[in-house]
Amino acid sequence: MPLIQWNKQLSVGIVSIDEQHKKLINMINALNDALAEGQADEVLAKIFDGLAVYTVKHFGYEEALFAQYGYEKSEMHKNEHDALIEQVVKLQQKMNDGNFIISVEVMVFLKEWLTNHILKTDMAYTKFLTAKGVT
Ligand SMILES: [Fe+2]
Ligand SMILES: [Fe+2]
Repeated sequence: MPLIQWNKQLSVGIVSIDEQHKKLINMINALNDALAEGQADEVLAKIFDGLAVYTVKHFGYEEALFAQYGYEKSEMHKNEHDALIEQVVKLQQKMNDGNFIISVEVMVFLKEWLTNHILKTDMAYTKFLTAKGVT
């Protein structure tokens, strides 16, 4: 069973964003599978790097919509994105220094940060962006 299972509760009601969230979930699940299969650290690091890159891209997509439509909670939301990216970058740095490997604890952390952010922070823009015609 995948680490994170997509379900309707995770839908923000905007197709383009749901697709991006699904992609992030798939990447975290792929990392978890690779860990469970005992793949080499370099393989795990590569998947993790891909996840980091796509996360930045996804956050950028949301923030561009906030700017375009003047979302009132934009700053708070952006701060949360920045904090998440900072955590991921720290893990990447540690990994590059050889002081860090992907573990079950890291997978739990990734699962929690993504699902909590979607459920608490992303959900808050649904009404606003939907009203602006964003799909
Ligand atoms: Fe977000
Ligand atoms: Fe998001």
